[in-house]
Amino acid sequence: MSSVADEVKRRRTFAIISHPDAGKSTMTEALALHARMISEAGAIHGKAGRKSTVSDWMEMEKARGISVSSTALQFNYTPAGWSDDDEPAVINLVDTPGHADFSEDTYRVLTAVDAAVMLIDAAKGLEPQTLKLFQVCRHRGIPVITVINKWDRPGQTPLELIDEISERIGLTPTPLYFPVGIAGDFRGLLDRRTGRYIHFTRTAGGAKIAPEEIMDAEAAAAREGDEWVAASEESALLTEMGQDHDQELFLAGETSPMIFSSAMLNFGVRQLLETLVELAPAPAGRTDLDGTVREPTDPFSAVVFKVQAGMDASHRDRLAYMRIVSGEFERGMVVTHAQTGKPFATKYAQAVFGRDRSTVDTAYPGDVVGLVNATALAPGDTLFNDPRVQFPPIPSFAPEHFSSLRATTADKYKQFRKGMDQLDSEGVVQVLRNDLRGDASPVLAAVGPMQFEVVTARLKSEFNVDTVIDPLGYTLARRTDAESADELNRQRGVEVFTRTDGALLALFSDKWRLQYIEKEHPDLTLEPLVATAD
Ligand code: G4P
Repeated sequence: MSSVADEVKRRRTFAIISHPDAGKSTMTEALALHARMISEAGAIHGKAGRKSTVSDWMEMEKARGISVSSTALQFNYTPAGWSDDDEPAVINLVDTPGHADFSEDTYRVLTAVDAAVMLIDAAKGLEPQTLKLFQVCRHRGIPVITVINKWDRPGQTPLELIDEISERIGLTPTPLYFPVGIAGDFRGLLDRRTGRYIHFTRTAGGAKIAPEEIMDAEAAAAREGDEWVAASEESALLTEMGQDHDQELFLAGETSPMIFSSAMLNFGVRQLLETLVELAPAPAGRTDLDGTVREPTDPFSAVVFKVQAGMDASHRDRLAYMRIVSGEFERGMVVTHAQTGKPFATKYAQAVFGRDRSTVDTAYPGDVVGLVNATALAPGDTLFNDPRVQFPPIPSFAPEHFSSLRATTADKYKQFRKGMDQLDSEGVVQVLRNDLRGDASPVLAAVGPMQFEVVTARLKSEFNVDTVIDPLGYTLARRTDAESADELNRQRGVEVFTRTDGALLALFSDKWRLQYIEKEHPDLTLEPLVATAD
């Protein structure tokens, strides 16, 4: 039997952060193909030219009863050069919800990973959602690997993209693999660390792993001519500018190893997997509320990072996803819920997408496990086996959308209140109240407006209360204190609320209003709600 330390060492837990359409689903599928979890790509989208019959993937979804896109995907991968006797690496790909619309869930997922892959469309460069997610990674100190995707289509030049990332987000890309052939003419990759060339061959519809030919510089020059020369020269330029990979700087969040890919053609996908295994950090310890580090080899502990309800209308089940921080998890184990001190039986634990049955029953640090019917659990909660541990709560993020909510059926107030308390405790939205508005119409604050729809839908389905959402004219919030509240309430375009956790929040109609008030009243306490504060 392998030790917890060995299991930790071979695990990599990461998320892909990207703007919608950059190719996250395609890349996820390409990774699964390379890990031989599926035998053919193309099933998710049913892309023309790719096979769209029921795939192993969908079979897997059916067997597990959970949608691939909603949770985490676990697979084994044996990098080239590892012997068959080596235990393969275990990759946990934790999914970030892929909507254009943001929600707190998206951020919370990033508290469960040890690294992120920033996937960028070569033609579009940095896009708003990538930027937002990147900022969360930066604040949490999550190392980022950058992948420039869709290199098979016309796009910007590598150096333009590298400059854009350096300038706009202050992260220095250090390409590991440099493209040979301009965007739209993707021939292969120059492995900058070995100087060798990896030439890819397309497969029909990109359904299979693209065959690779690896050759030295001389053979590459003979084969690709000017394209090889251009890639070599630009690579040398990057070396001169100090943009070679440096593991310490990468882990410190200052540089980002970069790869060019075509998820659709399966080019650069193996390189991404190998980079994850080689360079991304294995699960590390986590600091608890007392400042003590719970090491991965310590007794079992885990953090709940996401709660999902109502997936199965007939059962109204509620799944809490925990990321294991330390120790070995065995299904059926009775653990303690730190927030209530109560025992929690894990009989209905599901290793969300285990590769085989054994992972359903046992899990290790870095793994994500779904707990069924976990009504007592909320995002940020800790579960442990003695000795006791409690991790800091997941920070609540800076809301940007504010609406008041009221029940349209007057006699349902009790149900309404109960439902709101429930959704509030689950962290579905932030709930704000003040004396002026009273309890009948609390104000909901969210990172993305979709969170409001979840509230109304769940109040209806689970509490049988009809509600309406009235958007308010506020766009940003600042944390304030009791001394400043009176003055702020006197200002036009400002309103002060108490959030359920006791924090006082001042809402502003727009940033100009805020700037004006800050200038006129420099003594007032107005602190940004850092989306990412720990
Ligand atoms: P997302 O999950 O990040 O939202 O992106 P998704 O994978 O769904 O990809 C968005 C679109 O980009 C899809 O095309 C997909 O086929 C395409 N795409 C992804 N990776 C690549 C790539 O490396 N090269 C090229 N050329 N295209 C790529 P679509 O037309 O929107 O969907 P479909 O109906 O064709 O499947």
